[in-house]
Amino acid sequence: PEIISLRPGTLAEYIGQPEIAETLAIAIAAAKKRKEPLDHVLFHGPPGLGKTTLAHIIANEMGGNLTVTSGPALEKGGDLIGILTHIEEGDVLFIDEIHRMPKAVEEFLYPAMEDFAVDFVFDKGVHARSHRYRLNQFCLVGATTRAGLLSAPLRDRFGILKSLDFYKQADLIQITKRSAALLDIGIDNPGAKELSRRSRGTPRIVNRLLKRVRDYAQVRGNGTITKQTVEAALALEGVDKLGITDLDRRYLKTIIHFYNGGPAGIEAISATLQEETDTLVDVVEPYLLKIGLITRTSSGRKASESAYKHLSINMTDANSQDI
Ligand code: ADE
Repeated sequence: PEIISLRPGTLAEYIGQPEIAETLAIAIAAAKKRKEPLDHVLFHGPPGLGKTTLAHIIANEMGGNLTVTSGPALEKGGDLIGILTHIEEGDVLFIDEIHRMPKAVEEFLYPAMEDFAVDFVFDKGVHARSHRYRLNQFCLVGATTRAGLLSAPLRDRFGILKSLDFYKQADLIQITKRSAALLDIGIDNPGAKELSRRSRGTPRIVNRLLKRVRDYAQVRGNGTITKQTVEAALALEGVDKLGITDLDRRYLKTIIHFYNGGPAGIEAISATLQEETDTLVDVVEPYLLKIGLITRTSSGRKASESAYKHLSINMTDANSQDI
């Protein structure tokens, strides 16, 4: 069977993040007019908001090939040099999780970004000689969950820096409908609205949950997604009315029951939960902060009053319950 991509391939198909789309449309049109490569682009923001999708779109719109790699995959300078020397004029290189690139690799990237060159150093000490190898002109697209994780010299070499934020409800509804059409499943307006409401402002979650809801509609329903289908299917997924998942609930209940509502340090919370700190900081916390279920203070994370309410936990006897 044909593999269906839910990912938009052009800026015209891209829904949401209007300031980013407009900045890119202008920069891409100008670069093409001047027959120059696009300035290097850095995207930051929580996972699932379209950083990789935008890299694909940039390559498409610029008419270049896309090479995809990631910070952790580039272990040695040679790994990056191998990629850079095979890049063709006008190509796009996408480095995901660019903040996890080793420092030694990062240093090869500076002249590549600035002068489209790699500097090889032969020998050491007084015999050290360096040789400059010219590269084809390319556009680097970097992605990171948090801009603050990047070193200043790396960050300064990007010409376009954009932060991706959670999508507006109206945009998520449009994305839901577009994806449903591509997946050849009917969905009514209340169904699309309910799915969007439960997808934490995140297109990747919309598209994942849509597939589970489609399964449910085709097996237990009449083949069309309604609000009731979404409610029943997502109850099975453990996704509640606010899009809160099992991991979110464990995180919140740890703060509430184990740390008496907080403030609790992130290292302490992750140790109690036995989850990676990075997962909590990059995946779990941004949305909980956004909808106000937690607050962050200098002394740690606190569960807000709405968190207690949402979980139906009484604030006065919270710490005497089991997690
Ligand atoms: N699918 C995932 N993200 C999308 C977006 N921003 N626009 C359209 N379709 C999408």
